[in-house]
Parts: sequence; structure tokens; C-alpha cells
Amino acid sequence: MDIRDDLQAKFLALYGYEPAGEWSAPGRVNLIGEHTDYNLGFVLPFAINRRTFVALGLREDRVIRVASSFSDEVVEIPLAELSPGALHGWSAYPLGVAWALSGHGADLSAVPGVDIFIESDVPVGAGLSSSAAIESAVAIALNDVWRLTLSRPVLAQVGQRAENEAVGAPTGIMDQTASLLGQKDCAVFLDCRSLDSEIVDLGLEAAGLVVLIIDTGVSHQHATGGYAERRASCELGARMLGAQSLRDVTVADLPRAREILDDVTFRRVRHVVTENQRVLDTVEVLRDLGPAGIGDLLDASHRSMRDDFEISVRELDLAVETAQANGAIGARMTGGGFGGAAIALIRSDDLSRLQVAIDGAFAEHGFGQPDTFVVTAAQGASREN
Ligand code: GLA
Repeated sequence: MDIRDDLQAKFLALYGYEPAGEWSAPGRVNLIGEHTDYNLGFVLPFAINRRTFVALGLREDRVIRVASSFSDEVVEIPLAELSPGALHGWSAYPLGVAWALSGHGADLSAVPGVDIFIESDVPVGAGLSSSAAIESAVAIALNDVWRLTLSRPVLAQVGQRAENEAVGAPTGIMDQTASLLGQKDCAVFLDCRSLDSEIVDLGLEAAGLVVLIIDTGVSHQHATGGYAERRASCELGARMLGAQSLRDVTVADLPRAREILDDVTFRRVRHVVTENQRVLDTVEVLRDLGPAGIGDLLDASHRSMRDDFEISVRELDLAVETAQANGAIGARMTGGGFGGAAIALIRSDDLSRLQVAIDGAFAEHGFGQPDTFVVTAAQGASREN
């Protein structure tokens, strides 16, 4: 039974009627451009072939119910009572989206209530945006059934608002944008200040390359701790440099930044400023030479996150080093950091050798076995039926 048959059956068993439709949205992997989104810089993620599916049925009252295959709980709340303070746990993601839509034309005292069932094969805690996949799938579903006609970039902002205010994680706009705008075999090049995006051909298959995910199993949380602290450092750095955001600081400004800032803030700033440049360079190299040319940029991005931004962990460094020593063209940790996954860009012929080497290296260091799997660049959120 595939995940979608299962979804129909579970919706029916739980709610006692057939859903009105099904929608889906993918997780994402970030090829390059880490912690640049909330600094209004550049990112280059792609949507992956792991998806979250949402079945939705319309109710006759103004209540919203959500259930999922990853919890036994069915959460029910009148639409009019939705507010960030009323939402907790996993249901804050879908319910937060319903609430955030009220800032974009959904009159929660007039739209019909809904029942939602969610199923997903996006790994949780791996830095592959399982949360944005939920938000984006629910956002396109509600946008359709509530006839809101919001554009995808606006739905990405809705998802981000849900995550920031209902879930309480101060994340940027990258994940939802990748999930909503992704296209098969392509990456999404996003300017996080103007929100202009371009679809960039990855050309992986033609080059005989694949992207391997090495999920370390070290789980991370962005609602607490390091992520928010890094964001605060970036904002402090920008303020001290008299810039509105680090987007306005360039590589040429770094010598002056070194004089003005304390060492830690300077290194945080240097990561963001050089990472923005690496995104621009990656896009150019992809267009001129294809994916085989971007390895050094991926490697440099990892070093910058490890040494300057200090968001890597030993397991991620080991994954990256092992990949680099076993044929990868380039490798880096991906996502917010402090755990999660690394990516390795590698020739398909070298893949099994690398997987064996990764397992061996993790065993040798006494780390738990990582989950390794190839991802392809997939279509963004869509209506399934
Ligand atoms: C998480 C956030 C994104 C982005 C990345 C780091 O995935 O959700 O907005 O900040 O971390 O690049």
C-alpha cells in the first residue's frame, strides 16, 4: 500500500467520510546558502522526493480538527479560537497555518471548518524541513478549499509566520519557498530580500551525479538554543556595522568589520557574508560548468559553518570528511545545524563505496549508524486529486 492509499483509509476510518481532496508538499535540502535567509541574503535549496500528504474534508461548522500518522492525538479547536498561544506540539504547524491565513484574507469566522489528516515520509529532525512540508501542504489545501487565491510566495510567508509565531522558531523563508516553488531536477535560487526567485537547472543526471543525504540521527530543535542565538549575533553584527541587515555587508567590508566587531560576532558575520557570495558563485558555476564544478564551494561552505558560524557537530564533520575522502565532489552539513544531515555530491558510480565508508567511520568513532539515502530534486507542493 503506498502512503496515499493509507491516507485515504486513515481519513475515512477516523472521520467517517471521504476527504474532499488531497494535497502534498515536499521536504527540501539546501544545496548552499545557510543562515543567510533571515539575513535577507541568498539561498539555493531544492525540493526533494520525500513528501507530506494532507487529506482534507469540509465540515458544516467552524471547527478545525487535525490528526496525523505521527501522533495518536486528534486536536480540535473552533477556528475563531485559533491563536499562537492556544497551539502546542505538532499540531501547532498545521493549525498555525490556518491561523496565519487570517492575516491574508481568511475570515476565520466565515470560512467552513475542516478535518485534516497528515501523513509524511519526510524524516523528522534531519534538517530536511519536515515542518515546512506540513505547513506548505496545509497552506495549499486551505488556500484551495477556502478559495483564497493566494500566490505561492505569499503562502510561503504564511508558513513562515506559523513557524515563527505559532511554533516559536525564529526561522527564515527558505524552507517554505523551496517546498512551494521547487521544480523537478532544479534548485530554487531565492533572493530573501526581494523574494524574487529563479529556477536553476541542477543537471545532476546528465553529469552522472547524485546528492547523498547522510542523516547523523543527532536531532536538533530550532525553537530553542543555538539557532536563535546565531540569529541574534547576526543582527548585532549588522547593527554595529550600521547596516540594515547583513545583506548590505559585502566581502570587501570584512576588513573594517574585523576592526569594529568582537571576534565571535566577526566570525558569524564573515560566515554570512561569504556564504552569500558562495551562493551567487554556485549559481554561476551551475550555469557555466554544471554541477561537477561546485564541489569546492560546498566544501568551503562547510568549513565556514564549522569554524566561523560554529553550528556543526562532530558527527556532521565526520560525515563530511569521510565523504570528501571517498570520492565526493563536495560535501557540507545542510540546514540549521547542531545536528541533522550532511549532503555529499558524488558520482553515482562511487556511491556504494561512500556508503560503506560512512558506516565504517561512524562505527569506528562509536557513533550511532547514520541513515544514508539519495534524494532527487522534485516538484513543489501540488494538489493530488
Ligand atoms: C532552518 C530554517 C531556515 C534556515 C536554515 C539555515 O532550516 O528553517 O529558515 O535559516 O535553518 O539556513
